[in-house]
Amino acid sequence: SDNKIIIAIDGYSSSGKSSMARALASSIGYRYVDSGAMYRAVTLWGLRRGIVSDGTVDEEALIAALPDIAIDFQPIPGEGQHTLLCGEDVESEIRSLRVSDNVSQVAVIPAVRHHLVALQQQFGREKGIVMDGRDIGTTVFPDAEMKVFVDASAETRAHRRFLELQQKGMEATYEDVLANVKQRDHIDTTRAESPLTKASDAISLDNSDMTIAEQNEWLIELYNRILAAKR
Ligand code: CDP
Ligand code: CDP
Repeated sequence: SDNKIIIAIDGYSSSGKSSMARALASSIGYRYVDSGAMYRAVTLWGLRRGIVSDGTVDEEALIAALPDIAIDFQPIPGEGQHTLLCGEDVESEIRSLRVSDNVSQVAVIPAVRHHLVALQQQFGREKGIVMDGRDIGTTVFPDAEMKVFVDASAETRAHRRFLELQQKGMEATYEDVLANVKQRDHIDTTRAESPLTKASDAISLDNSDMTIAEQNEWLIELYNRILAAKR
């Protein structure tokens, strides 16, 4: 409807983007789309076929395969949604350190970005969407009515991600997670094609000292303010 807007949440790895985006979407009845999951799914597809391995990518083969790499999201009642790769639920596998260690190298490839950005823009056609990622407010939806840029120290972020992997019983050491977070931040901010950067009209949030509840409260207040100004 006319009142629905597009909400872009960008920021560094493991800063809390997806927990913020998911919570906001569910409280205001919007659709949530995790753009990072799409880059992760393409990476998993390549890893399974040896097209991606140890940080190197056979670009030509991956680009040729893009039309066959079907990515979708399936709503799961009570727990958000799961990522589907060619119909298979890969939600857990795309969060592994093996995928994290290769995804930024896949995400630098312009043809991969163009393909996924077009899909992301399709998801936003009817507005009423919250999308999180790296380039949502700059490239995917430069006209989004609400843009947030999230950051926290690398150590805080690595600690959060480490705890999360531990809780899920996935293998990783804190040192490995910290190294991965720093490496991805570096690749994501220095790539030529739509690098991670704060849109000039994005509102910054450093949530290093915020709980999930506090950051969600901050976010809904911002949303209410933006909606009130729109009326
Ligand atoms: O959850 P986390 O912040 O660790 O990462 P993610 O959002 O799942 O994204 C994984 C990787 O995909 C990032 O490190 C980027 O390399 C890439 N990505 C991107 O290039 N553009 C986006 N809009 C989203 C993710
Ligand atoms: O999407 P992104 O990679 O930016 O981060 P996330 O998946 O939302 O958050 C990474 C981890 O940090 C999750 O386990 C969150 O529950 C946790 N987190 C936290 O403990 N405190 C915050 N203020 C934000 C996130």
